[in-house]
Amino acid sequence: MTATGFNFRLLATDGTARRGEVTMPRGTIRTPAFMPVGTGGTVKAMYMDQVRGVGADIILGNTYHLMLRPGAERVARLGGLHEFARWPWPILTDSGGFQVMSLSKLRKLNETGVTFRSHIDGAPYELTPERSIEIQGLLDSDIQMQLDECVALPASEKEIERGMELSLRWAERCKTAFGDQPARAMFGIVQGGDVPALRERSALALKGMDLKGYAVGGLAVGEPQEVMLDMLGVTCPLLPADKPRYLMGVGTPDDILKSVARGIDMFDCVMPTRAGRHGLAYTRRGKVNLRNARHADDPRPLDEESDCPAATDYSRAYLHHLVKSGEALGAMLLTWNNLAYYQRLMADIRAAIEAGAFADRAADISEGWAKGDL
Ligand code: GUN
Repeated sequence: MTATGFNFRLLATDGTARRGEVTMPRGTIRTPAFMPVGTGGTVKAMYMDQVRGVGADIILGNTYHLMLRPGAERVARLGGLHEFARWPWPILTDSGGFQVMSLSKLRKLNETGVTFRSHIDGAPYELTPERSIEIQGLLDSDIQMQLDECVALPASEKEIERGMELSLRWAERCKTAFGDQPARAMFGIVQGGDVPALRERSALALKGMDLKGYAVGGLAVGEPQEVMLDMLGVTCPLLPADKPRYLMGVGTPDDILKSVARGIDMFDCVMPTRAGRHGLAYTRRGKVNLRNARHADDPRPLDEESDCPAATDYSRAYLHHLVKSGEALGAMLLTWNNLAYYQRLMADIRAAIEAGAFADRAADISEGWAKGDL
């Protein structure tokens, strides 16, 4: 039966690791979930059929990129992002603030919002909490993120606090702008840098707003993994158990295992797709650099135990040749392999939590990486 509203339920727990399910009219998201990044309406170098084929339940889109090109109103006129990009299943969109800070020129941030110039043609734009939610609505995004400010680390405690408090006020404005939309969700974003007391205040204030889901932002921005995990250890126990938790922009397979162990349900990261375009393959035996000359005469596939044709049907010598020649097919095959790897990792994690064997399975997976390439 098709769901009429947004709903999350926990199916199993194993320690603090959670196995759950988000149901929405456009589909079900099995958690822990990895969302391939489809920044500008495309998961780079992949057909949507392949993205679905490797097991993705949801992809991510970006307000920032789509508002600049081709424009949110245009996407709306063309039937919304699902129709435009030919991905009929759930889409989560980031709110734009994070990308404005990392990509745009001449940006100015104040209480109202952020003004900036496009990194494409220098044209001026304004993004407020209300406009971000409006754009995400025009895109017809299923899970919308509040506009927030992610303060780059290292920063003073005062600066981190200012950004966190501003993000809380913007969360209230986004909640009001979003209103009552049963079929969609708006998630708040916990900020607070590397300061436990600020993380705590942010998480509790957002919890008080009774949102449909909660993200943890401002992490994996250059701090050691240990700091990120400590912040999750502080934040996750304060978030309501019956709502999904999304760790933004994370991460490596190891980051994912350790964050699931601390209670995270959703992830997104450019790593598997970006690495694929740079000649790197993720495998159960770690990362393999196909640029390396040792592959030039190797007739073996990347990993014959994989369920992805990119890993089983082509020789390492051929993949090496494609990558060295800068062929589009090299990027396509390695991205396919990498997203298949990430989705298999998530399926493995979900099965292990259900079986009450998450810690053992996580240790086995890490052991495989430590052994090195086949
Ligand atoms: N992506 C990665 N980190 C963040 C964050 O802190 N905020 C937003 N909006 N997006 C992110």
